[in-house]
Amino acid sequence: MDSERFLTQLPNLFEDFPHSEHPIDRRFAPVVEHVENLARENNLALLNLAASCLGPDEIYVEVGVFHGASLVAAMLGNEGRRRFVGIDSFDFRDGSLDRVEQNLAHFGVGQSELIVGDVFELVPGGALGEARAGVWYYDALHTYEGQMEGLRIAEPWLAPGALLIVDDTDWEQVARAMDDYLAEQPRVRRVLTVCGKDRGSPQWWEGMQVLEWSA
Ligand SMILES: C[S@@+](CC[C@H](N)C(=O)[O-])C[C@H]1O[C@@H](n2cnc3c(N)ncnc32)[C@H](O)[C@@H]1O
Repeated sequence: MDSERFLTQLPNLFEDFPHSEHPIDRRFAPVVEHVENLARENNLALLNLAASCLGPDEIYVEVGVFHGASLVAAMLGNEGRRRFVGIDSFDFRDGSLDRVEQNLAHFGVGQSELIVGDVFELVPGGALGEARAGVWYYDALHTYEGQMEGLRIAEPWLAPGALLIVDDTDWEQVARAMDDYLAEQPRVRRVLTVCGKDRGSPQWWEGMQVLEWSA
């Protein structure tokens, strides 16, 4: 995972990072418009850049797919070069596997591997096989315990330099879990925090943080 390239190039996607309302390239606007989502164009551009920095044998893992907006965005322009795995129990609103597959097809990004069920059972149970994750995007259960576990379960599968990207980090219990996870795990360091709407930056939804997993 080329985490250095991710950090160097991220500001270049915007006129005025992190204050811009949207990235310079508007290719994620149709995704936000067409697919019911919980994200903004800025969040999607960040995920897409992270996916473009994956090493040749690394996979992108997304926990919390819903209707597929963030997965489509991560894959746009990166499809065919890397493996993309989405995990969701589809027990939130009207999220469904069919809907995600329709949205992937609509945007022509090809197939991703979609695993349906509870991530806290699937991943420790070996659902990712021998894969190495260069990106672990966690946007699922955001209770304090869920957030902590959502990072801990990734550890055996992380590639050197992997990015752990977490959404909704404005939320008190998510922010606290991020701090506590950093305190307990010496192999991670926080490389980015962007505030969201509760902290005056609605262009970043509810905020994001990025952690880097050391070799
Ligand atoms: C906020 S939505 C994801 C939004 C999506 N990333 C987007 O940007 O549009 C959270 C998703 O996490 C899923 N989820 C929650 N807890 C889960 C669990 N324990 N295992 C798997 N999926 C889970 C829900 O079914 C829901 O679809």
